[in-house]
Amino acid sequence: MEEIVNKFWAIGGGKGGVGKSLVTVLLGAALARMNKKVVLVDADLGGSNLHTLVGIRYPTYTLVDFLKKNVSSLEETLLDTPVEGMKIICGADDILGVANPKHTQKARIFNHLKNLEADFILIDLGAGTSFTTIDFFLFAPNRMVVLTPQVTSLQNAYGFIKSCLYRELSREFGKAPEVLDLLQRAGNPSPGEALDSMDKIHHVLMDLDPEKAERQKKILDHFTIRVVINMVKDPKEKNIHRIIASVARHYLNIELEDFGTIPYDRHLDAGVNQMASLLQGDRNGSYRYPFYELALLVTKKQKTAPAPVPPLWLNDEAQPPTPSW
Ligand SMILES: Nc1ncnc2c1ncn2[C@@H]1O[C@H](COP(=O)(O)OP(=O)(O)OP(=O)(O)O)[C@@H](O)[C@H]1O
Ligand SMILES: [Mg+2]
Repeated sequence: MEEIVNKFWAIGGGKGGVGKSLVTVLLGAALARMNKKVVLVDADLGGSNLHTLVGIRYPTYTLVDFLKKNVSSLEETLLDTPVEGMKIICGADDILGVANPKHTQKARIFNHLKNLEADFILIDLGAGTSFTTIDFFLFAPNRMVVLTPQVTSLQNAYGFIKSCLYRELSREFGKAPEVLDLLQRAGNPSPGEALDSMDKIHHVLMDLDPEKAERQKKILDHFTIRVVINMVKDPKEKNIHRIIASVARHYLNIELEDFGTIPYDRHLDAGVNQMASLLQGDRNGSYRYPFYELALLVTKKQKTAPAPVPPLWLNDEAQPPTPSW
């Protein structure tokens, strides 16, 4: 059980182009170079391109072969990458009609994933908040959100985290219409709606059904998400973590763990073709350092307690402003 808890990492972020796939590949490569057995999974089923980043042009097997039962186990779809110790399960394009697999298909993928032999399985997610994307994210006990300092990325990352939390709670309280109704009201507050946060839901639930209020609190306490800020060009941009953590704490009652920053590096912006050759080449390029640091955080077994965060707002306001997203 502990093995499963430690090995699965989902990498999401809501917005396209923020570096989810790049982080997946370079984190995987860093882990492999620490002698860990790594599997990358391309769960961007609508627009997969993880294989291109590792230099595979035409994958011989993809998740589609598994979904269509051309192969009997997920293991058969594992392909080698240029990095020793790192394998990949490739995704597929929407054209093959697999962007939204059925519940039973997802369950089958998850079951087979659990049986894959690896130290770390990194699941690269697509952009957006489709149920498929969210379900892959929630499947992994370890969840990482990648964003950039751009405000649109911040908005999308917060929206993604919020959608994931609401889906988790909706599942947990699927048979409790009164809780679903509260979630619905708080999730899409109409103008003037006072019920706009998890804390307020909790207070209503305490009066309605203390046992359910306790269950809600437990889910929130365990809903750990690690945040990585990518493409940082200015040290001040590291504050983005404080902003998103503050909003998540205020409205969702969850703690976001600071998993560091990755600087903008022109070597990494040179396009996907370049990526494959970067992976094959120089082991010590400086662009790799942030990914080794990330790998060290990932390999820490114990769940790190969220660091206490000082008062957050850059302008020192007592309360975070209401997000307009
Ligand atoms: N730290 C960085 N420095 C410079 N360029 C970067 C960095 N991180 C990512 N990029 C560049 O940003 C682009 C988008 O990266 P990537 O494909 O990983 O994003 P993504 O979030 O997976 O997008 P999508 O949602 O479309 O799959 C790539 O061209 C990549 O080279
Ligand atoms: Mg991607």
